[in-house]
Amino acid sequence: MDGNGRWARRRGLPRTEGHIAGEEALFDVVNGALDIGLRWLTVYAFSTENWRRPPEEVRFLMHFNETLLLRRRDELNAKGVRIRFAGRRDWRVPRRVLRAMEEATSLTEGNRRMTLTLAFNYGGRAEIVDAVRALVSDGVADHKIDERAIRRHLYWPDMPDPDLVIRTSGEYRISNFLLWQLAYSELVFSEVLWPDFRSHHLYEAIAEYQRRHRRYGGVTA
Ligand code: IPE
Ligand code: MG
Repeated sequence: MDGNGRWARRRGLPRTEGHIAGEEALFDVVNGALDIGLRWLTVYAFSTENWRRPPEEVRFLMHFNETLLLRRRDELNAKGVRIRFAGRRDWRVPRRVLRAMEEATSLTEGNRRMTLTLAFNYGGRAEIVDAVRALVSDGVADHKIDERAIRRHLYWPDMPDPDLVIRTSGEYRISNFLLWQLAYSELVFSEVLWPDFRSHHLYEAIAEYQRRHRRYGGVTA
């Protein structure tokens, strides 16, 4: 969900207004995804690198995410959305935010219509490091370590690898998102700044995805 700061700056607003405007984009996309029966949606909300931002912006984002969960969890629950978080629950995440995350998770854990994973304090390299640590602390022998073993120790082993990754705001990077999982994902880059992103942009990206030929390193007949 990239481009909030630039969206705000272009309007002469503080960057935080871009984050606020991003909420409407997120819910338009979630609703649009529900309409077409998308089962898994993962959004990058806060990266392990975002702590480098000015403390006021970090503080704002923590509070904003907490209140967003409190305001919107019932609506998501009513729509059959299972809310999950991927990322590190370390000391930097305020306790109140962790509590809101836990409450949203337990409220919605029985839902199956869609799994909405919020990557929060998430880094793809950190996830792989955490998987390796978990393998070691489980005492997995070296000859038993294979791709399946690593996958089993990722944050959400049941989450299918993404078919499609959409990067907004005209940036052409992965920026530490789901590094293990997106080995064969199709990448679509959009010039649209996140606060302007709507479900029709999602559908356009899916249409582009449908024109791709996935070969997974093989050849097609
Ligand atoms: C993405 O928008 C939101 C978060 C990372 C929290 P940015 O804040 O990165 O917006 P730009 O990239 O500065 O425009
Ligand atoms: Mg950015």
